[in-house]
This record gives sequence, C-alpha cells and structure tokens, in this order.
Amino acid sequence: MRITLNTLQKMMQEGDKITMLTCYDASFAALLEEAGVESLLIGDSLGMVLQGHESTLPVTQRDVVYHTACVARGAKHAFIIGDMPFGTFQLSPQEAFRNAAEIMAAGSHMVKIEGGLPMLETIEFLTRRGIPVCGHLGLTPQSVHQLGGYRVQGKGDTAAQRLLEEAKQLEQAGAGMIVLEAIPALLARDITAVLRVPTIGIGAGVDCSGQVLVLHDMLDIYPGKKAKFVKNFMRPGGSIQAAVAMYVKEVKAKTFPGPEHSF
Ligand code: KIV
Repeated sequence: MRITLNTLQKMMQEGDKITMLTCYDASFAALLEEAGVESLLIGDSLGMVLQGHESTLPVTQRDVVYHTACVARGAKHAFIIGDMPFGTFQLSPQEAFRNAAEIMAAGSHMVKIEGGLPMLETIEFLTRRGIPVCGHLGLTPQSVHQLGGYRVQGKGDTAAQRLLEEAKQLEQAGAGMIVLEAIPALLARDITAVLRVPTIGIGAGVDCSGQVLVLHDMLDIYPGKKAKFVKNFMRPGGSIQAAVAMYVKEVKAKTFPGPEHSF
C-alpha cells in the first residue's frame, strides 16, 4: 500500500519515527523501500553527489523532473518528495506552481521548498491549489553564499526564536512537513513540540518526527567533506541493504542521531 502524507502524520502522532533518505534512481528506490524507508527525497543534493558540482545551485528543473520520474518508476510504496531547484520557485508563486506541477506530474507526492518568511505566499499558493509542500528551514544549502558557508543556524536566543516563529508560520501557510537542517537539537525539539505537522531532521537531533540523510553520505561513497551529522552506516552494515536496514532500525530506536551527530 502507498504511504501517504496521512500515514506520515499518523506515525508522528503515534511517536513512530519517520525514515527518509535521498534517492535519485529506480534501483535505489526499490532497494530503499524494501529496507523499510518510508519516504524518498529527490534532493537537489544530486548536484553534488551525482553531478560533482560544488554546491546544489547548478541543479535544473529538468534534472529534478528526470530523477523524480526515475525514482517514481522504482518505488511502489514510498512517499516521494521532489526538491524544487534554486531559481525555480523564488520569482513568483505562479512560476513556482508551474514548476512544482511538473515535478508532481513526474511522480512526486510533495515538493520541497527551501526558505522561511519570503516563501509563505508561495507555500500558501501551492497548497491551496493541491500541491503539498515540505518546508526547509535552518541551513538552507541554496543560500550557502548568503549564509557564508555551511554553518549551523538558529544559535542564540534571537536566532532560535526567529526560526521557531518561521516554522509556525510555514505550518500556518499550509506546509505539510518541515525539514530542519543543522540547528541545535534543543531548538528542533521545541519546534517539533509546537507544530502539528512532522519535522524531519538532518543535523537537528533525535527529537524530530523523523530523520533524513543524503544516501551517498550514509553509504560513504561521496568523496567530499562530510558534515558532523553524517553517520557512515556502510562500515558496520557491510552491504548497501544492511546499511540502509541499520539506518531504519537506529532511527526507529532513536539511537541515531546520537549526541556526536547533533549540535
Ligand atoms: O537536497 C537534499 O538532499 C536535501 C536534504 C539534505 C534534506 O535537501
């Protein structure tokens, strides 16, 4: 049976942690859902781990549509989320709708949009027109040059309060899920506690409703620098299937992420 946003919402209410991994092709889609991963994200991280770029900025609409279609052909049960690439949603809600609709038509069940307050109008526009939206707050890699690097966000009372407010407003605008990246674990816990929609953490501690990692990071096949929040599941796992199964088991048991992967 297909996992839906309702399924994930129910899991959150029951305290069953949601597992998500990035995925870019049909074979991995089948393998990941077979190992128990509930949600697959066609992340714009594909620009770095598949295409070899230094950031996610060069990823195009065509890239995400292509990889979403590949994943959708391989996944029979998982909830599929397509990332909206840099430059495809910031200009106007109308343009965002046109691009989001194309990603949905390729097989996605939700689109992900990076950013806080400036995205509220677009999130409302899309969700009122039938396109579920996942927000993305904290370290938003498409803004790496504005943030001055891949840095932990939401540190200190003022920044933390701002992030908490942004999360509430995203939910109010219609976001059905929110990714929290590289923020203090206690802040992610507070945000998760006040929201009614699931939070998915990456470098945001163990108290989010679920976790996501970039597939190539957790399998230790990305040659670039790894963030503190990444765990190599391949070393103890020994095979790709065992590594993914171990990730699912540890997220469900709340043993990943540990304090050593959190801020
Ligand atoms: O592009 C991506 O892989 C992401 C995750 C890191 C959340 O946005």
